[in-house]
Amino acid sequence: MRITRSPQLGLLALSLLCTLLSLAQCLTCEVCKHSGPSCKGKLKLCEAGKDACLIVVGLSTTGGIESVDTSKSCMKYKHCYSGFISTSLGQEEHMVSNSYCCQEDGCNKGSIPTPKNNSTRNGLRCPACKATFREHCSGKEPVQCVGNETHCVYFAGTVYAGIVRTKFAARGCASESACNAQVGGEVPSVTYTYELRRADCVPAPQPPGWAEKKLTLSVH
Ligand SMILES: *[C@@H]1O[C@H](CO)[C@@H](O)[C@H](O)[C@H]1NC(C)=O
Ligand SMILES: *[C@@H]1O[C@H](CO)[C@@H](O)[C@H](O)[C@H]1NC(C)=O
Ligand SMILES: *[C@@H]1O[C@H](CO)[C@@H](O)[C@H](O)[C@H]1NC(C)=O
Repeated sequence: MRITRSPQLGLLALSLLCTLLSLAQCLTCEVCKHSGPSCKGKLKLCEAGKDACLIVVGLSTTGGIESVDTSKSCMKYKHCYSGFISTSLGQEEHMVSNSYCCQEDGCNKGSIPTPKNNSTRNGLRCPACKATFREHCSGKEPVQCVGNETHCVYFAGTVYAGIVRTKFAARGCASESACNAQVGGEVPSVTYTYELRRADCVPAPQPPGWAEKKLTLSVH
C-alpha cells in the first residue's frame, strides 16, 4: 500500500494507532451543523468515550416561523436515541426531531427524513416554562400538547452552545420517546448540547371531565 501525504493522513495515522492499541473507542464521524435538512462536514476522530455517530434533524416552530436544522456529531452510545421526539415548551414553541445513531466509521454521512410537524392539539396540557441561568422554573403557564405529546417533562441542567455554558430549566409537553433522556446524560439538540441533572417525564394528567365524558360515551 502506498500512502500519499494528504490531509487525511493524520486521521489515518490515528485510526491505525487505534487499531494497533485495539482501543474500543476509536470512531470517526462526520461533524457538521447547518440549516436545512442535511449538512456536509469533515470526518473527525471522536474524543475518548464517544462511541457513536449521530445525525439529528430538527424542525422547530417558534412564533409561527418554521426552521429546519441538521447536526452531525460524536456521542456516547448509551445516551444516543434513534427516532422521533416532539416537544412543546410554550404555546408558540414546538420542536420535532428525528435522530439516528450508529457505531461504524463515517456511518452518519447520509441524511435522514425531516420529521413531520403535527400541530393538532390532543387535549392534554402540561406546565410549561423556559429559563436560563437557573435550574428551575415554575411552569405556571400551561401548554397544549400536540400530536404524539402524551407526557410532561421537566428538564434542567447545563446547556452548552460552543464554548458558552449556562444553567437552564425547561418544562412542557413531550412525546413518550423523550423519557429516554437520563440524568447525567447528554441530550444533543441541533444547536445546543444539554447535560441533564433533572429529567422528569410523567404521563400528562387527564384533563378534568374526561373520565365522565368517556363513561357517558360508553353508557350510551
Ligand atoms: C407546525 O406547527 C405549528 C405550531 O402548531 C403550526 O403553526 C404550523 O403551521 C405547523 N406546520 C405544518 C407544516 O403543519
Ligand atoms: C396528529 O395528532 C393527532 C392528535 O394526537 C392525531 O389524532 C393524528 O392522527 C396525528 N396526525 C398524524 C398525521 O400523525
Ligand atoms: C408519532 O409516533 C410514532 C411512533 O411513536 C412516530 O413513528 C410518528 O412519526 C409520530 N408522528 C407524529 C407526527 O407525531
